[in-house]
Amino acid sequence: MKEVLVVGGDGIGPEVISQAVRVIQSLDVSVKFVAGDAGLAAYERFGTSLPEETLRKAQRADAVLFGAVTTPPDIKDYHSAILGLRKSLNLYANLRPVRSVPLPGSPEGVDMLIVRENTEGLYAGKERLEDGGRTAITERIITASASERIARFAFELATREQRRKVTIVHKANVLRESCGLFRRTCLEVAKRYPGITTDDCLVDSMAMRLIREPQRVDVLLTTNLFGDILSDEASMLGGGLGLAASANIGERHALFEPVHGSAPDIAGTGVANPFASILSAAMMLSHLGYPHEASAVQHAIEMALRRGKTTPDLGGRLGTEQATDAVLSLLSKEAIA
Ligand code: NAD
Ligand code: IPM
Ligand code: MN
Repeated sequence: MKEVLVVGGDGIGPEVISQAVRVIQSLDVSVKFVAGDAGLAAYERFGTSLPEETLRKAQRADAVLFGAVTTPPDIKDYHSAILGLRKSLNLYANLRPVRSVPLPGSPEGVDMLIVRENTEGLYAGKERLEDGGRTAITERIITASASERIARFAFELATREQRRKVTIVHKANVLRESCGLFRRTCLEVAKRYPGITTDDCLVDSMAMRLIREPQRVDVLLTTNLFGDILSDEASMLGGGLGLAASANIGERHALFEPVHGSAPDIAGTGVANPFASILSAAMMLSHLGYPHEASAVQHAIEMALRRGKTTPDLGGRLGTEQATDAVLSLLSKEAIA
């Protein structure tokens, strides 16, 4: 029996993650759920966005299924719960796949994996004010060890998935030391994988390439903030944030979450797209040893898209629960080998 900690969070987080739980519960898998608090609602109740108890449960669980949390910039000393979880569980690799979807106007032939370093860079949390508050300094930490670790993760994954190419994305023309070290370290790791083509690309140029020729991007390996920004951009090649799933992987723990946030603009209206959460749950099922069930869920979502059984962000008319109902009924027709 696998234990999954479910952290809905706030905003649309609980609305969409409950749908992912429904889908898992409809399958013949040996998974037990426990619930944990995090985010703005937890802060209002317990005075912290990430209670100790949630952390303890996360340490114990086989995987965490996470919704979304709001991080208000104006509350002093407020810490992002998702960043806290990634850090405490040492989830060093953030994996964000982007694939073509059967929706009108969507580009064909896209199948990329964004591999984002998840522990350092501009997210290292080293910030301070000087000059009486008139100068703000953020340190960008890049280490050879974390760069090597994420590069090995990307090349191992590329090997397992029989992918052709890894593109290292950086800004080493300007950030000569930090991106220079990242680029050099990744290129060094690449030498151990002669069967995979390696190239590198400046981040601004990659932002353009994602629009011009996304079919030519295979595995995209990059630092923390660049990966954050490029993954929201790339999500638009695969139907948008309503479909973008992700996995955060470490040596001992794993957390699965939609790429999108708490969407306060639509929270409580019942129209949030649950598919990104359901697809994240599929990534979790695969991680927990249920690859057939994971493919069946992906396939059911694809069929729902083809039939226009979607929420309004994808042009449909269904609400969050109805869209999940559609997936459940398509899933029950699937033969799970
Ligand atoms: P967002 O991803 O929440 O929303 C961006 C836009 O996409 C909004 O218009 C929203 O309505 C739409 N959208 C997002 N998810 C959707 C879905 N499932 N269905 C339909 N439409 C969807 O980003 P934001 O507005 O920049 O951020 C809002 C809050 O979320 C912030 O506090 C931010 O810090 C937080 N955030 C949290 C996470 C996380 O918990 N992992 C990720 C990103 C942002
Ligand atoms: C994401 C989010 C987070 C990030 C925020 C909420 C801290 O944008 O998962 O992409 O920047 O990593
Ligand atoms: Mn983001």
